[in-house]
Amino acid sequence: MSDKITAKNEVDKGEGAMNNFSGNPEFIDILEKSYSRRQMLQGSLGVAIAGMLGASGVASAMVEDEDVSDENSVAARQRRPFIKNPVLGFDAIPVTRSDTVTVPKGYRVQAFIPWGTPILGNYPAYKADGSNTGLDQEQQVGSHHDGMHYFPIDYKAGGYSSKEGLLCVNHEYIDPDVINPNGMTIVDKKRANADEVRKEIAAHGVSIVHIKLNENTKNWEVVPGSRFNRRITAETLMEIRGPVRGHDLVKTQFSPSGTRTRGTINNCAHGYTPWGTYLTCEENWPEYFFCPDPQPREHSRQGVSKVPTLDAGRYGWETVSGDADRNQRYSRFDATPKGADATKDYRNEPNCFGWVVEIDPFTPGSLPKKRTALGRFRHEGCWLSPPQLNQPIVYYSGDDARNEYIYKFVSKGVYTENATGDLLDEGTLYAAKFNEDGTGVWLPLDINHPDFKAAMAAKNVTFKDQAEVLVNARLAADIMGATKMDRPEWGTVHPQTREVFMTMTNNTRTSTTDPGTRAVNPRFPNPNGHIVQWREANNKPWATSFTWEIFMFCGLAKDGGQILPDHNGPKLTADNICASPDGLWFDDNGILWIQTDMSGNQQGSGPFGNNQMLAANPWTGEVKRFLVGPMDQEVTGVVTTPDGKYMFVNMQHPGDRSTPGKFTSNWPDSGNVFSTPGNVPPLNINPNGPRPRSATIVISREDGGVIGL
Ligand code: FEO
Ligand code: CA
Ligand code: CA
Repeated sequence: MSDKITAKNEVDKGEGAMNNFSGNPEFIDILEKSYSRRQMLQGSLGVAIAGMLGASGVASAMVEDEDVSDENSVAARQRRPFIKNPVLGFDAIPVTRSDTVTVPKGYRVQAFIPWGTPILGNYPAYKADGSNTGLDQEQQVGSHHDGMHYFPIDYKAGGYSSKEGLLCVNHEYIDPDVINPNGMTIVDKKRANADEVRKEIAAHGVSIVHIKLNENTKNWEVVPGSRFNRRITAETLMEIRGPVRGHDLVKTQFSPSGTRTRGTINNCAHGYTPWGTYLTCEENWPEYFFCPDPQPREHSRQGVSKVPTLDAGRYGWETVSGDADRNQRYSRFDATPKGADATKDYRNEPNCFGWVVEIDPFTPGSLPKKRTALGRFRHEGCWLSPPQLNQPIVYYSGDDARNEYIYKFVSKGVYTENATGDLLDEGTLYAAKFNEDGTGVWLPLDINHPDFKAAMAAKNVTFKDQAEVLVNARLAADIMGATKMDRPEWGTVHPQTREVFMTMTNNTRTSTTDPGTRAVNPRFPNPNGHIVQWREANNKPWATSFTWEIFMFCGLAKDGGQILPDHNGPKLTADNICASPDGLWFDDNGILWIQTDMSGNQQGSGPFGNNQMLAANPWTGEVKRFLVGPMDQEVTGVVTTPDGKYMFVNMQHPGDRSTPGKFTSNWPDSGNVFSTPGNVPPLNINPNGPRPRSATIVISREDGGVIGL
């Protein structure tokens, strides 16, 4: 998600919101101390930062003889061998600022399932003037495509089709100025056109689209009439599962038993399970809810809006009243206590959000399940460590807000061929603590753990049961002393070494808890972001300790942009300068794909051009720019077909700075869907031209080869 709200209102809302006022150490402080330690080890204050980083006592990122693939690895059995040291077989493309997608020569791009594409029911055609209704939108692809996964259509039968599958796509949020013909209709600070709100709610959530390769045109197509085509929206009925199911904190007028809720919101990144289900993660949901002071801690620590949501830069859904508000479908976004108890109002509605939601795309009528054991916060995504038979299953998560934490879930049960989502209902949630010496520990957020009991006593914070711990996961991590991070975004786990990489997109902070360390921190504040990597003790994903390193500092070389010395240490160059890393994914060939989400001035006029995607060889540290997107969009979400020949990438919110009738991008309907270097069209946007539409792109090679190699 971009900082459009920030840009328009000059206030810091939505992504990046800061609600952590605990005294916990911040990663940047630890990094600074770590540098200082390394500096001393090297015995010279004059040694360049680059040298210091290389002096780490941490095990090198990519150990030469490391190979953890084993017979029990599901990935090893089901896929072709990985490449440890992939050769990037394309020429880096330059930074550009054009209203088109640019890819290397020899590649082609198809714009696919843009916002408004009909996939269901009556297949209502997309109307270019924005006049599709709410009912139409419920049958069309949503907006602001984000995390995404491709399930081969024959996956359940053990197959790996690269020609037909189910594409699950998150729709993170909407731009009311683009989605409605003339923006929001507001009268007396209330939404006056209920159908606009219905449409906006329907444009959120997830699309499940049955897709198939047309082998003649080499384009992908939606399979019309497929029973798998489905929309999950911010109003879809869902089950609450795991330890929080039935708890007092999730009882509402809609579900007095606390077992069900409606909708999923702000679905940013994602995850998947080896049993063929999709995980969608709820990120910046708090500002969709209004609850005036005094707020309970489960609202205030998450940043639920204390003012009406229109004033918070959101959409004012809670203000729709009258007949349209059947079953409190809109007024539930007002969490003000109004009734005699929680079953008479929606004071607990925000507690039904902030979760990982499991969706079974192969069972069209199935209810999505909020898997509460994985904790409640601003979930960026949910990253699977390659599963191993008869061992716990492990997911990593980041909480994308300034100074928030990294989490890990370890299932209680073990993974078997017959595993289901119920494996996610019991386990231990941990928060990460990064030590100065390059080591780290996972802190159990477990009410029965002696360390947690001691922390509750020491901090004078009480939780009645594990459900309260999970609803208040941020607070639980606070008292355990987790490390504040620079906005954790995507993570990914190397398919062979099981090392975890995670982007820290940026941090605008102007002070730290330890100001004395500023002098030794050349990247403070951190507008450009960096990528952290860690390795679990003994390479066991369920271990409770780890060692960590920095893989990459983004930004210009003069601002410290570089790949670290353990990876040959080159400074960033014209081939790979970038900022605000966000999406991150290892493909089966061992290529690390890095996507950026710059916003504001960094995107509008900085040296990095439009948001981009790079390919990295984590073995050598080689990084090359592979793609640049159209104007005012964010590159997010990436997956390939199993054969690696088709890559799906999302272009989220092109024309992010549009106002009604004045669009800042016309992509993709402009006709300039893509270009290659030397052929990039000049920037020429028609403010009254086609309205911009978030879309998936499908990248392939003219010669039919594997992407990136
Ligand atoms: Fe929605 Fe943190 O990106
Ligand atoms: Ca982002
Ligand atoms: Ca993101």
